Amino acid sequence: MFKLSYGPVKKNNGCIAVFFHEKKVLKNFLTRDELISYEQINKDDNIFWITRSDIILFFICMAQKNNLHEMLEANRRKGHDLFLLLKKWNQKNLQIIDESHDPSFLAFVEGLFLSNYAFDHYKSKKDFCITHIHIQCTHEKGKLEELYKICESVYQTRDLVNEPPAVLSAVELSERAFKLCRKEGIKVDIFNKQKIQSLKMGGLLAVNRGSIHPPTFTILEWKPKKTKNKKPIVLVGKGIVYDTGGLNIKVGDGMTTMKCDMAGGAAVIGAILALARNKLPIHVVGLIPATDNRPGENAYAAGDIITMHNGKTVEVLNTDAEGRLILADALSYAKKYKPMLVIDLATLTGAAVRALGDYVIAAMGNASAQFFSSLEQSAFKVYERIAIQPFWDDYGELIKSSVADIKNIGGPLAGHITAGKFLEHFVSYPWIHLDIAGPAFMEKPYYYWGQGGTGVGVRLLYDFLKSLPYEYEKH
Ligand code: BES
Ligand code: ZN
Ligand code: ZN
Repeated sequence: MFKLSYGPVKKNNGCIAVFFHEKKVLKNFLTRDELISYEQINKDDNIFWITRSDIILFFICMAQKNNLHEMLEANRRKGHDLFLLLKKWNQKNLQIIDESHDPSFLAFVEGLFLSNYAFDHYKSKKDFCITHIHIQCTHEKGKLEELYKICESVYQTRDLVNEPPAVLSAVELSERAFKLCRKEGIKVDIFNKQKIQSLKMGGLLAVNRGSIHPPTFTILEWKPKKTKNKKPIVLVGKGIVYDTGGLNIKVGDGMTTMKCDMAGGAAVIGAILALARNKLPIHVVGLIPATDNRPGENAYAAGDIITMHNGKTVEVLNTDAEGRLILADALSYAKKYKPMLVIDLATLTGAAVRALGDYVIAAMGNASAQFFSSLEQSAFKVYERIAIQPFWDDYGELIKSSVADIKNIGGPLAGHITAGKFLEHFVSYPWIHLDIAGPAFMEKPYYYWGQGGTGVGVRLLYDFLKSLPYEYEKH
Protein backbone atom coordinates (compact mmCIF):
# COMPACT_ATOMS: atom_id res chain seq x y z
CA MET A 1 0.00 0.00 0.00
CA PHE A 2 1.15 3.53 -0.68
CA LYS A 3 1.54 6.18 2.00
CA LEU A 4 -1.34 8.65 2.34
CA SER A 5 -1.05 12.12 3.91
CA TYR A 6 -3.09 15.31 4.03
CA GLY A 7 -2.55 19.04 4.21
CA PRO A 8 -1.40 21.90 2.01
CA VAL A 9 0.76 20.80 -0.92
CA LYS A 10 4.44 21.62 -0.73
CA LYS A 11 7.02 22.42 -3.34
CA ASN A 12 9.56 19.71 -4.11
CA ASN A 13 7.25 17.04 -2.82
CA GLY A 14 6.35 15.43 -6.13
CA CYS A 15 4.13 16.32 -9.02
CA ILE A 16 0.79 18.03 -8.53
CA ALA A 17 -2.62 17.06 -9.86
CA VAL A 18 -5.44 19.60 -9.72
CA PHE A 19 -8.99 18.25 -9.84
CA PHE A 20 -11.32 21.04 -10.86
CA HIS A 21 -14.84 21.78 -11.97
CA GLU A 22 -14.85 25.46 -12.94
CA LYS A 23 -12.27 26.40 -15.51
CA LYS A 24 -11.69 29.75 -13.84
CA VAL A 25 -9.63 28.15 -11.07
CA LEU A 26 -6.96 27.35 -13.63
CA LYS A 27 -5.70 30.88 -13.61
CA ASN A 28 -4.51 30.34 -10.05
CA PHE A 29 -2.13 27.68 -11.34
CA LEU A 30 -1.23 28.57 -14.93
CA THR A 31 0.65 31.43 -16.53
CA ARG A 32 -1.00 33.37 -19.35
CA ASP A 33 0.86 31.38 -21.98
CA GLU A 34 -0.02 28.12 -20.34
CA LEU A 35 -3.67 29.15 -20.21
CA ILE A 36 -3.59 29.91 -23.92
CA SER A 37 -2.12 26.52 -24.67
CA TYR A 38 -4.81 24.95 -22.47
CA GLU A 39 -7.50 26.74 -24.50
CA GLN A 40 -5.87 25.66 -27.76
CA ILE A 41 -5.65 22.05 -26.81
CA ASN A 42 -9.05 22.29 -25.16
CA LYS A 43 -8.80 18.84 -23.75
CA ASP A 44 -11.60 19.19 -21.26
CA ASP A 45 -12.34 15.53 -21.51
CA ASN A 46 -8.77 14.43 -21.16
CA ILE A 47 -6.17 15.28 -18.63
CA PHE A 48 -4.13 18.34 -19.48
CA TRP A 49 -0.58 18.54 -18.20
CA ILE A 50 2.33 20.92 -18.35
CA THR A 51 5.92 20.28 -17.49
CA ARG A 52 7.95 23.04 -15.93
CA SER A 53 11.62 22.84 -15.06
CA ASP A 54 10.84 21.92 -11.47
CA ILE A 55 7.46 20.21 -11.57
CA ILE A 56 4.80 18.46 -13.62
CA LEU A 57 1.25 19.72 -13.19
CA PHE A 58 -1.77 17.68 -14.20
CA PHE A 59 -5.24 19.16 -14.57
CA ILE A 60 -8.24 16.91 -14.37
CA CYS A 61 -11.63 18.33 -15.22
CA MET A 62 -14.41 16.70 -13.22
CA ALA A 63 -16.60 14.47 -15.39
CA GLN A 64 -20.27 15.41 -15.50
CA LYS A 65 -23.22 13.15 -16.24
CA ASN A 66 -26.94 13.46 -15.70
CA ASN A 67 -27.03 10.37 -13.56
CA LEU A 68 -25.18 10.52 -10.23
CA HIS A 69 -23.90 6.93 -10.37
CA GLU A 70 -22.62 7.30 -13.91
CA MET A 71 -20.95 10.53 -12.85
CA LEU A 72 -19.16 8.93 -9.91
CA GLU A 73 -17.98 6.12 -12.16
CA ALA A 74 -16.74 8.51 -14.85
CA ASN A 75 -14.66 10.22 -12.17
CA ARG A 76 -13.26 6.93 -10.88
CA ARG A 77 -12.14 6.33 -14.44
CA LYS A 78 -10.53 9.78 -14.48
CA GLY A 79 -8.55 8.57 -11.47
CA HIS A 80 -7.46 5.62 -13.56
CA ASP A 81 -6.50 7.92 -16.46
CA LEU A 82 -4.31 9.93 -14.11
CA PHE A 83 -2.67 6.73 -12.88
CA LEU A 84 -1.74 5.78 -16.45
CA LEU A 85 -0.19 9.21 -17.01
CA LEU A 86 1.82 9.04 -13.80
CA LYS A 87 3.07 5.67 -14.91
CA LYS A 88 4.10 7.09 -18.26
CA TRP A 89 5.99 9.91 -16.51
CA ASN A 90 7.27 7.61 -13.78
CA GLN A 91 5.93 9.91 -11.05
CA LYS A 92 5.83 8.05 -7.76
CA ASN A 93 5.11 10.99 -5.48
CA LEU A 94 1.80 12.63 -6.11
CA GLN A 95 0.14 15.63 -4.53
CA ILE A 96 -3.52 16.27 -5.28
CA ILE A 97 -5.44 19.50 -4.88
CA ASP A 98 -9.23 19.38 -4.91
CA GLU A 99 -10.61 22.51 -6.49
CA SER A 100 -13.97 20.92 -7.31
CA HIS A 101 -15.31 20.65 -3.75
CA ASP A 102 -17.63 17.98 -5.07
CA PRO A 103 -18.26 14.37 -3.94
CA SER A 104 -16.88 13.37 -7.34
CA PHE A 105 -13.45 14.11 -5.94
CA LEU A 106 -13.73 11.11 -3.60
CA ALA A 107 -14.71 8.92 -6.55
CA PHE A 108 -11.73 10.23 -8.52
CA VAL A 109 -9.41 9.41 -5.60
CA GLU A 110 -11.02 5.98 -5.28
CA GLY A 111 -10.34 5.21 -8.95
CA LEU A 112 -6.75 6.32 -8.50
CA PHE A 113 -6.24 4.26 -5.31
CA LEU A 114 -7.74 1.15 -6.88
CA SER A 115 -5.58 1.54 -10.01
CA ASN A 116 -2.38 1.67 -7.97
CA TYR A 117 -2.37 -2.09 -7.32
CA ALA A 118 0.25 -4.51 -8.55
CA PHE A 119 0.69 -8.22 -8.04
CA ASP A 120 4.43 -8.36 -8.63
CA HIS A 121 5.84 -10.52 -5.80
CA TYR A 122 6.97 -13.01 -8.42
CA LYS A 123 8.49 -10.50 -10.87
CA SER A 124 12.16 -9.52 -10.81
CA LYS A 125 11.33 -6.15 -12.33
CA LYS A 126 8.57 -4.62 -10.25
CA ASP A 127 5.55 -2.87 -11.74
CA PHE A 128 5.15 0.90 -11.48
CA CYS A 129 3.37 2.05 -8.32
CA ILE A 130 2.78 5.43 -6.70
CA THR A 131 4.46 5.30 -3.30
CA HIS A 132 3.07 8.45 -1.69
CA ILE A 133 -0.18 10.37 -2.22
CA HIS A 134 -0.63 13.70 -0.47
CA ILE A 135 -4.08 15.29 -0.56
CA GLN A 136 -5.21 18.87 -0.08
CA CYS A 137 -8.98 19.06 0.08
CA THR A 138 -11.92 20.24 2.14
CA HIS A 139 -13.50 16.80 2.47
CA GLU A 140 -13.33 15.26 5.93
CA LYS A 141 -10.07 13.44 6.56
CA GLY A 142 -12.17 10.56 7.91
CA LYS A 143 -13.75 9.96 4.51
CA LEU A 144 -10.37 9.56 2.87
CA GLU A 145 -9.19 7.28 5.63
CA GLU A 146 -12.28 5.14 5.25
CA LEU A 147 -11.63 4.91 1.53
CA TYR A 148 -7.98 4.01 2.10
CA LYS A 149 -8.96 1.16 4.42
CA ILE A 150 -11.55 -0.14 1.98
CA CYS A 151 -8.97 -0.06 -0.83
CA GLU A 152 -6.42 -1.83 1.35
CA SER A 153 -9.00 -4.59 1.87
CA VAL A 154 -9.65 -4.75 -1.89
CA TYR A 155 -5.89 -5.07 -2.50
CA GLN A 156 -5.67 -7.97 -0.06
CA THR A 157 -8.65 -9.68 -1.66
CA ARG A 158 -6.99 -9.34 -5.06
CA ASP A 159 -3.73 -10.72 -3.63
CA LEU A 160 -5.54 -13.84 -2.43
CA VAL A 161 -7.21 -14.33 -5.81
CA ASN A 162 -3.97 -13.81 -7.74
CA GLU A 163 -1.89 -16.16 -5.61
CA PRO A 164 -1.13 -19.28 -7.68
CA PRO A 165 -2.67 -22.63 -6.77
CA ALA A 166 0.62 -24.23 -5.70
CA VAL A 167 0.89 -21.59 -2.97
CA LEU A 168 -2.69 -21.02 -1.96
CA SER A 169 -4.03 -24.35 -0.69
CA ALA A 170 -7.17 -24.41 1.44
CA VAL A 171 -4.97 -24.47 4.57
CA GLU A 172 -2.95 -21.51 3.30
CA LEU A 173 -6.15 -19.57 2.53
CA SER A 174 -7.40 -20.10 6.08
CA GLU A 175 -4.02 -19.17 7.59
CA ARG A 176 -3.86 -15.98 5.56
CA ALA A 177 -7.40 -15.12 6.62
CA PHE A 178 -6.30 -15.71 10.22
CA LYS A 179 -3.23 -13.47 9.92
CA LEU A 180 -5.12 -10.66 8.21
CA CYS A 181 -8.20 -10.74 10.44
CA ARG A 182 -6.73 -11.27 13.90
CA LYS A 183 -4.87 -7.96 13.70
CA GLU A 184 -8.19 -6.16 13.19
CA GLY A 185 -10.02 -7.72 16.12
CA ILE A 186 -11.96 -10.23 14.00
CA LYS A 187 -12.43 -13.61 15.65
CA VAL A 188 -11.20 -16.47 13.48
CA ASP A 189 -12.01 -20.15 13.85
CA ILE A 190 -10.60 -22.73 11.44
CA PHE A 191 -12.17 -26.20 11.20
CA ASN A 192 -9.82 -28.94 10.02
CA LYS A 193 -10.78 -32.08 8.11
CA GLN A 194 -11.60 -34.03 11.28
CA LYS A 195 -13.97 -31.34 12.49
CA ILE A 196 -15.53 -31.08 9.01
CA GLN A 197 -16.06 -34.86 9.10
CA SER A 198 -17.67 -34.67 12.51
CA LEU A 199 -20.03 -31.99 11.19
CA LYS A 200 -20.91 -34.29 8.27
CA MET A 201 -20.26 -31.69 5.61
CA GLY A 202 -20.68 -34.24 2.84
CA GLY A 203 -20.43 -31.73 -0.01
CA LEU A 204 -17.11 -30.24 1.05
CA LEU A 205 -15.71 -33.70 1.83
CA ALA A 206 -16.82 -35.14 -1.53
CA VAL A 207 -15.18 -32.36 -3.53
CA ASN A 208 -12.03 -32.72 -1.44
CA ARG A 209 -11.67 -36.46 -2.12
CA GLY A 210 -9.59 -35.99 -5.27
CA SER A 211 -7.15 -33.65 -3.56
CA ILE A 212 -3.91 -34.41 -1.73
CA HIS A 213 -4.58 -31.45 0.58
CA PRO A 214 -7.15 -31.32 3.40
CA PRO A 215 -10.19 -29.03 3.25
CA THR A 216 -10.77 -26.16 5.66
CA PHE A 217 -13.83 -24.32 6.89
CA THR A 218 -13.03 -20.83 8.13
CA ILE A 219 -15.33 -18.78 10.33
CA LEU A 220 -14.76 -15.05 10.76
CA GLU A 221 -16.75 -13.00 13.23
CA TRP A 222 -16.84 -9.22 13.59
CA LYS A 223 -18.86 -8.39 16.67
CA PRO A 224 -18.07 -5.01 18.16
CA LYS A 225 -19.53 -4.06 21.57
CA LYS A 226 -22.39 -2.00 20.16
CA THR A 227 -24.10 -3.29 17.04
CA LYS A 228 -27.03 -2.01 15.01
CA ASN A 229 -28.31 -5.52 14.32
CA LYS A 230 -29.38 -8.09 16.90
CA LYS A 231 -29.24 -11.03 14.51
CA PRO A 232 -26.02 -11.32 12.53
CA ILE A 233 -25.57 -10.98 8.81
CA VAL A 234 -23.77 -14.04 7.49
CA LEU A 235 -21.53 -13.86 4.41
CA VAL A 236 -20.64 -17.12 2.71
CA GLY A 237 -17.81 -17.29 0.14
CA LYS A 238 -16.89 -20.07 -2.28
CA GLY A 239 -13.34 -21.15 -1.53
CA ILE A 240 -12.37 -23.50 -4.36
CA VAL A 241 -8.67 -22.67 -4.40
CA TYR A 242 -8.34 -24.34 -7.77
CA ASP A 243 -10.99 -25.86 -10.02
CA THR A 244 -9.75 -28.45 -12.50
CA GLY A 245 -13.31 -29.70 -12.90
CA GLY A 246 -12.36 -32.93 -11.10
CA LEU A 247 -12.96 -36.14 -13.07
CA ASN A 248 -15.18 -34.09 -15.42
CA ILE A 249 -11.98 -32.28 -16.19
CA LYS A 250 -12.09 -28.89 -17.84
CA VAL A 251 -10.94 -28.95 -21.45
CA GLY A 252 -9.07 -26.48 -23.64
CA ASP A 253 -8.06 -23.40 -21.71
CA GLY A 254 -11.05 -23.76 -19.38
CA MET A 255 -8.73 -24.14 -16.41
CA THR A 256 -6.33 -21.25 -16.95
CA THR A 257 -8.11 -18.74 -14.74
CA MET A 258 -9.40 -21.21 -12.19
CA LYS A 259 -7.18 -19.97 -9.39
CA CYS A 260 -9.91 -17.33 -9.15
CA ASP A 261 -12.44 -19.86 -7.93
CA MET A 262 -11.99 -18.73 -4.33
CA ALA A 263 -12.77 -15.10 -5.20
CA GLY A 264 -16.06 -15.30 -3.28
CA GLY A 265 -14.21 -16.44 -0.15
CA ALA A 266 -11.57 -13.74 -0.66
CA ALA A 267 -14.30 -11.09 -1.03
CA VAL A 268 -15.88 -12.21 2.24
CA ILE A 269 -12.49 -11.83 3.97
CA GLY A 270 -11.96 -8.41 2.34
CA ALA A 271 -15.44 -7.12 3.20
CA ILE A 272 -15.14 -8.12 6.86
CA LEU A 273 -11.65 -6.59 7.01
CA ALA A 274 -13.04 -3.33 5.62
CA LEU A 275 -15.89 -3.31 8.16
CA ALA A 276 -13.54 -3.99 11.06
CA ARG A 277 -10.92 -1.47 9.98
CA ASN A 278 -13.59 1.19 9.83
CA LYS A 279 -15.12 -0.08 13.07
CA LEU A 280 -18.65 -0.32 11.71
CA PRO A 281 -21.14 -1.31 14.42
CA ILE A 282 -22.53 -4.32 12.58
CA HIS A 283 -22.41 -7.95 13.66
CA VAL A 284 -21.17 -9.99 10.71
CA VAL A 285 -20.09 -13.61 10.36
CA GLY A 286 -18.10 -14.98 7.41
CA LEU A 287 -18.09 -18.65 6.40
CA ILE A 288 -15.53 -19.93 3.89
CA PRO A 289 -15.58 -23.62 2.91
CA ALA A 290 -12.35 -24.34 1.02
CA THR A 291 -10.67 -27.09 -0.97
CA ASP A 292 -9.28 -27.60 -4.46
CA ASN A 293 -11.26 -29.68 -6.96
CA ARG A 294 -8.97 -32.28 -8.55
CA PRO A 295 -9.26 -35.66 -10.25
CA GLY A 296 -7.02 -37.54 -7.76
CA GLU A 297 -7.30 -41.31 -7.46
CA ASN A 298 -9.97 -41.16 -4.77
CA ALA A 299 -11.92 -38.39 -6.52
CA TYR A 300 -15.71 -38.28 -6.33
CA ALA A 301 -17.34 -39.30 -9.57
CA ALA A 302 -20.38 -38.54 -11.68
CA GLY A 303 -23.05 -40.97 -10.44
CA ASP A 304 -22.08 -40.65 -6.78
CA ILE A 305 -24.81 -39.88 -4.27
CA ILE A 306 -23.69 -37.81 -1.32
CA THR A 307 -25.34 -36.75 1.92
CA MET A 308 -25.02 -33.13 2.81
CA HIS A 309 -24.69 -31.30 6.17
CA ASN A 310 -28.48 -30.83 6.39
CA GLY A 311 -29.14 -34.49 5.60
CA LYS A 312 -30.36 -33.97 2.02
CA THR A 313 -28.95 -36.29 -0.63
CA VAL A 314 -27.43 -35.11 -3.90
CA GLU A 315 -26.83 -37.06 -7.07
CA VAL A 316 -23.56 -35.79 -8.51
CA LEU A 317 -23.84 -35.76 -12.28
CA ASN A 318 -20.91 -33.48 -12.98
CA THR A 319 -17.90 -33.06 -10.70
CA ASP A 320 -17.29 -29.61 -12.19
CA ALA A 321 -20.45 -28.33 -10.52
CA GLU A 322 -18.57 -28.45 -7.22
CA GLY A 323 -19.03 -24.92 -5.91
CA ARG A 324 -22.69 -25.46 -5.06
CA LEU A 325 -21.76 -28.59 -3.05
CA ILE A 326 -19.35 -26.80 -0.72
CA LEU A 327 -21.60 -23.72 -0.49
CA ALA A 328 -24.61 -25.89 0.36
CA ASP A 329 -22.88 -27.20 3.49
CA ALA A 330 -21.88 -23.68 4.53
CA LEU A 331 -25.41 -22.34 3.91
CA SER A 332 -26.84 -25.16 5.97
CA TYR A 333 -24.31 -24.42 8.74
CA ALA A 334 -25.29 -20.71 8.67
CA LYS A 335 -28.70 -21.61 10.14
CA LYS A 336 -27.21 -21.91 13.63
CA TYR A 337 -26.59 -18.14 13.70
CA LYS A 338 -30.32 -17.39 13.22
CA PRO A 339 -29.23 -14.79 10.70
CA MET A 340 -31.06 -11.64 9.72
CA LEU A 341 -29.77 -12.16 6.17
CA VAL A 342 -27.27 -14.44 4.44
CA ILE A 343 -25.42 -13.39 1.30
CA ASP A 344 -23.24 -15.85 -0.55
CA LEU A 345 -20.65 -14.88 -3.16
CA ALA A 346 -19.35 -17.42 -5.61
CA THR A 347 -17.65 -17.78 -8.96
CA LEU A 348 -20.35 -20.33 -9.51
CA THR A 349 -21.24 -20.72 -13.17
CA GLY A 350 -20.04 -20.08 -16.70
CA ALA A 351 -23.75 -19.66 -17.47
CA ALA A 352 -23.82 -16.36 -15.54
CA VAL A 353 -20.96 -15.07 -17.70
CA ARG A 354 -22.60 -16.26 -20.90
CA ALA A 355 -25.90 -14.64 -19.96
CA LEU A 356 -24.64 -11.30 -18.64
CA GLY A 357 -21.00 -10.80 -19.58
CA ASP A 358 -17.96 -9.95 -17.53
CA TYR A 359 -19.06 -6.78 -15.82
CA VAL A 360 -22.12 -7.84 -13.90
CA ILE A 361 -22.95 -9.88 -10.83
CA ALA A 362 -25.95 -12.20 -11.21
CA ALA A 363 -28.14 -11.83 -8.13
CA MET A 364 -31.02 -14.02 -6.99
CA GLY A 365 -32.59 -15.45 -3.85
CA ASN A 366 -35.56 -15.45 -1.53
CA ALA A 367 -34.82 -12.25 0.43
CA SER A 368 -37.40 -9.45 0.54
CA ALA A 369 -37.64 -6.85 -2.21
CA GLN A 370 -36.34 -4.31 0.34
CA PHE A 371 -33.06 -6.18 0.72
CA PHE A 372 -32.70 -6.55 -3.03
CA SER A 373 -33.43 -2.92 -3.64
CA SER A 374 -30.89 -1.76 -1.01
CA LEU A 375 -28.31 -4.05 -2.57
CA GLU A 376 -29.09 -2.76 -6.04
CA GLN A 377 -28.67 0.83 -4.83
CA SER A 378 -25.26 0.04 -3.35
CA ALA A 379 -24.34 -1.86 -6.50
CA PHE A 380 -24.96 1.20 -8.67
CA LYS A 381 -23.26 3.47 -6.16
CA VAL A 382 -19.98 1.55 -5.99
CA TYR A 383 -20.42 0.39 -9.59
CA GLU A 384 -20.20 -3.30 -8.83
CA ARG A 385 -23.49 -3.73 -10.58
CA ILE A 386 -25.95 -6.54 -10.03
CA ALA A 387 -28.56 -7.93 -12.38
CA ILE A 388 -31.43 -9.48 -10.45
CA GLN A 389 -32.46 -12.73 -12.11
CA PRO A 390 -35.83 -14.48 -12.19
CA PHE A 391 -36.03 -17.16 -9.55
CA TRP A 392 -39.29 -18.97 -10.19
CA ASP A 393 -39.97 -22.51 -9.03
CA ASP A 394 -40.01 -23.68 -12.67
CA TYR A 395 -36.22 -23.54 -12.60
CA GLY A 396 -36.19 -25.77 -9.53
CA GLU A 397 -37.93 -28.53 -11.50
CA LEU A 398 -34.76 -28.91 -13.55
CA ILE A 399 -32.67 -30.27 -10.67
CA LYS A 400 -35.00 -33.08 -9.59
CA SER A 401 -33.25 -36.45 -9.39
CA SER A 402 -34.66 -39.95 -9.82
CA VAL A 403 -32.30 -41.47 -7.23
CA ALA A 404 -31.66 -38.68 -4.70
CA ASP A 405 -33.37 -35.55 -3.35
CA ILE A 406 -31.77 -33.34 -6.01
CA LYS A 407 -29.00 -33.48 -8.61
CA ASN A 408 -26.10 -31.06 -8.93
CA ILE A 409 -26.75 -29.92 -12.50
CA GLY A 410 -29.80 -28.66 -14.35
CA GLY A 411 -30.14 -28.74 -18.11
CA PRO A 412 -28.33 -26.65 -20.70
CA LEU A 413 -30.52 -23.60 -20.05
CA ALA A 414 -30.21 -20.88 -17.38
CA GLY A 415 -27.45 -22.75 -15.55
CA HIS A 416 -26.79 -19.89 -13.16
CA ILE A 417 -30.40 -19.92 -12.00
CA THR A 418 -30.63 -23.68 -11.60
CA ALA A 419 -27.40 -23.42 -9.55
CA GLY A 420 -29.16 -20.84 -7.36
CA LYS A 421 -32.16 -23.15 -7.06
CA PHE A 422 -29.82 -25.90 -5.90
CA LEU A 423 -28.50 -23.64 -3.12
CA GLU A 424 -32.05 -22.72 -2.09
CA HIS A 425 -32.51 -26.28 -0.80
CA PHE A 426 -30.03 -25.48 1.96
CA VAL A 427 -31.32 -22.13 3.20
CA SER A 428 -33.91 -21.44 5.89
CA TYR A 429 -33.61 -17.63 6.29
CA PRO A 430 -33.61 -14.54 4.05
CA TRP A 431 -30.90 -15.10 1.50
CA ILE A 432 -29.24 -13.55 -1.56
CA HIS A 433 -26.93 -15.44 -3.90
CA LEU A 434 -24.37 -13.46 -5.91
CA ASP A 435 -22.73 -15.25 -8.83
CA ILE A 436 -19.49 -13.32 -9.45
CA ALA A 437 -18.02 -15.67 -12.10
CA GLY A 438 -17.88 -12.79 -14.62
CA PRO A 439 -16.44 -9.83 -12.70
CA ALA A 440 -14.16 -11.66 -10.21
CA PHE A 441 -11.23 -11.95 -12.60
CA MET A 442 -10.26 -9.92 -15.66
CA GLU A 443 -8.06 -11.55 -18.25
CA LYS A 444 -7.30 -8.13 -19.76
CA PRO A 445 -6.95 -4.88 -17.79
CA TYR A 446 -10.30 -3.20 -17.13
CA TYR A 447 -9.98 0.40 -15.91
CA TYR A 448 -9.32 0.58 -12.16
CA TRP A 449 -10.39 -3.06 -11.69
CA GLY A 450 -7.07 -3.90 -13.29
CA GLN A 451 -6.01 -7.31 -14.56
CA GLY A 452 -6.46 -10.57 -12.66
CA GLY A 453 -8.40 -10.56 -9.40
CA THR A 454 -10.63 -7.49 -9.15
CA GLY A 455 -11.73 -7.76 -5.52
CA VAL A 456 -15.34 -7.42 -6.66
CA GLY A 457 -17.80 -7.77 -3.81
CA VAL A 458 -15.73 -6.01 -1.15
CA ARG A 459 -16.91 -2.48 -1.90
CA LEU A 460 -20.42 -3.70 -2.65
CA LEU A 461 -20.83 -5.55 0.65
CA TYR A 462 -19.21 -2.76 2.63
CA ASP A 463 -21.54 -0.13 1.22
CA PHE A 464 -24.59 -2.37 1.51
CA LEU A 465 -23.93 -3.32 5.12
CA LYS A 466 -23.12 0.25 6.05
CA SER A 467 -26.21 1.77 4.45
CA LEU A 468 -28.76 -0.92 5.28
CA PRO A 469 -31.66 0.51 7.31
CA TYR A 470 -31.48 -1.92 10.20
CA GLU A 471 -35.13 -1.28 11.07
CA TYR A 472 -35.75 -4.02 8.50
CA GLU A 473 -34.72 -6.45 11.15
CA LYS A 474 -37.64 -8.18 12.81
CA HIS A 475 -36.67 -9.39 16.27
N1 BES B 1 -15.78 -22.41 -11.25
C1 BES B 1 -16.68 -22.74 -12.28
C2 BES B 1 -17.46 -21.57 -12.84
C3 BES B 1 -16.67 -20.45 -13.49
C4 BES B 1 -16.65 -20.32 -14.85
C5 BES B 1 -16.04 -19.49 -12.72
C6 BES B 1 -15.97 -19.28 -15.45
C7 BES B 1 -15.35 -18.44 -13.32
C8 BES B 1 -15.33 -18.33 -14.70
C9 BES B 1 -17.70 -23.76 -11.77
O1 BES B 1 -17.28 -24.60 -10.76
C10 BES B 1 -18.06 -24.63 -12.93
O2 BES B 1 -17.19 -25.28 -13.43
N2 BES B 1 -19.32 -24.61 -13.32
C11 BES B 1 -19.79 -25.36 -14.43
C12 BES B 1 -21.11 -25.98 -14.03
C13 BES B 1 -21.64 -26.99 -15.00
C14 BES B 1 -20.79 -28.24 -14.99
C15 BES B 1 -23.05 -27.32 -14.62
C16 BES B 1 -19.95 -24.41 -15.61
O3 BES B 1 -20.40 -23.30 -15.41
O4 BES B 1 -19.59 -24.80 -16.72
ZN1 ZN C 1 -16.30 -26.36 -11.49
ZN1 ZN D 1 -15.77 -23.85 -9.54
